[in-house]
Amino acid sequence: MKIAVFVSGNGSNLQCIIDNCKSKQIKGIEISMVIADRVCYAIQRANIEKIDCVIVDRKEKWQHDIHLLLKERNVQLIVLAGFLSILDNKFCSLWKNKIINIHPSLLPKYGGKGMYGLKVHQAVIDNKEKESGATVHFVTTNIDEGDIILQEKTAVKEEATATSLQELIHPIEHRLLVKSLKLIYAKTQSTH
Ligand code: GAR
Repeated sequence: MKIAVFVSGNGSNLQCIIDNCKSKQIKGIEISMVIADRVCYAIQRANIEKIDCVIVDRKEKWQHDIHLLLKERNVQLIVLAGFLSILDNKFCSLWKNKIINIHPSLLPKYGGKGMYGLKVHQAVIDNKEKESGATVHFVTTNIDEGDIILQEKTAVKEEATATSLQELIHPIEHRLLVKSLKLIYAKTQSTH
């Protein structure tokens, strides 16, 4: 199954997918393309692995072009791995049930527009939550509201900061993403 990974930042989740495909922990999945919406370290990670990477210009109507490109490449699943641009209604409906996202909280808590990265963890700290975690879910037009595929919790220590929480949750995200990809791939095989 060919996938495309959309990125905006460091790309640790992208790296995790790359490593697990290479080590065959994830079987049957190949990263066909990386799509970045800005210059970021994730692009370097794609370059090192010789994975085709497109940097989109968000001033233009990029989603239509990317849709055509991904179709041409026979991409079957899109993974949003720290991707910060909002996908429009048309793109989301064209790729219904074929886009997944990793989010650094226990959705439906701390999701929605403007909730990303450290902001999510800061809100968790500010609200003195006792637990947080990560969620992998399908993407719909309503931000962070699609069906949940997997979620994992962790305790939030009293002395935790947004940064320490981010560090704690990153490995959880990586684990969840690998498990989710395995699940989705297994499902495509059982329906054949
Ligand atoms: C991850 O923590 C991911 O959960 C978050 O961006 C980070 C990207 O890290 N995504 C969101 O907040 C989406 N709303 P990475 O670039 O190292 O994979």
